[in-house]
Amino acid sequence: MNHVRIIGTGSKAPDKVLSNHDLEKMVETSDEWITARTGIKERRIAEDGIASSDMGYDASLKALEASGTDPSELDVIIVGTVTPDYMMPSTGCLIQSKLKAKNAYGFDLAAGCSGFLYALHVGYGLIKAGTAKKILVVGTETLSRIMDYEDRSTCILFGDGAGAVVLSESEEPGIMSSCLNADGDDWELLYIPGGGSKIPASKESIENKDHYMKMNGRDVFRIAVKSMEAATMQAVEEAGIKPEDIDLLIPHQANFRILEAVRKRLNLPEDRLFSNLDKYGNTSAASVPLALDEAVRSGRAKKGDILLFTVFGGGFTWGATVVRL
Ligand code: UT7
Repeated sequence: MNHVRIIGTGSKAPDKVLSNHDLEKMVETSDEWITARTGIKERRIAEDGIASSDMGYDASLKALEASGTDPSELDVIIVGTVTPDYMMPSTGCLIQSKLKAKNAYGFDLAAGCSGFLYALHVGYGLIKAGTAKKILVVGTETLSRIMDYEDRSTCILFGDGAGAVVLSESEEPGIMSSCLNADGDDWELLYIPGGGSKIPASKESIENKDHYMKMNGRDVFRIAVKSMEAATMQAVEEAGIKPEDIDLLIPHQANFRILEAVRKRLNLPEDRLFSNLDKYGNTSAASVPLALDEAVRSGRAKKGDILLFTVFGGGFTWGATVVRL
């Protein structure tokens, strides 16, 4: 058993919809501008009181059910998120408790929008090293809680949701390559200033809106395209396949123009790109597992297919993974 496979997927999106037309009433923007520049039509917003662990739990239950895994079989729970319920305990521990996964240890992994792929990579390594057999990997975000709904450069992009996969040791091939990268030099182009040890919560930090996400969209866009294209080509090469072998490309759902740039770089036809960006916007670490679960449940991704995930996020962090489903 020297392979690691995804054996089940699940996702959760809140019911409440925030449409482009709703945003027109909140900031100076238009449905036409948002649609043309991003491809987003609406995003989901968690109800008051619902946090990342709640959506992550719902997604996890579905992934466990799809894979026929009992929570007691889990060795590890890894949660990619930039919006944990609390600074302490970790969302991983909260999900472990809700699932009653008594044999698992759990932790959060912060890598911006790349959190899920980073978590998948760590899970892959733990199984490969023989320290775990079954791992739950979750990406869950409640980004509406860190959005400034007076800042049109960010609030039109982001939404809430969760996705999860069960990773297992396997005799059949699964993860074929996994490439991660980071470059902290440009961290200020995409970050959340407040709430950490540098600018702890205070009356002043709240007045300054320090706990909201800040982004220089134009620069992030440029670096994201370049980085995701490079990571994608590296992951294809390390998997020993050709770009045309990819059955479905599932990129981080950031902006349709970014997704299209990656697809064109791989020279793939339009129907090999999966996007649900129009419905959910950018859900950060939840975006790839949420898209993967929709692709699986709709029949767009089938057992045996070769999938390519690629991500980019704050840090900066980025990467790509080739998987045989
Ligand atoms: O998850 C990973 C991290 N995030 C991303 O991947 C996001 C990457 N960046 C983007 O997706 C895009 O840069 C944005 C969608 C954020 C912005 O699109 P853009 O084509 O880069 O627009 P821009 O920032 O260059 O702005 C163009 C114009 C500006 O007006 P002027 O200076 O040309 O008069 C902006 O003020 O559009 C204006 N603008 C808006 N207009 C209407 C900026 N935001 C909006 C808005 N509605 N929401």
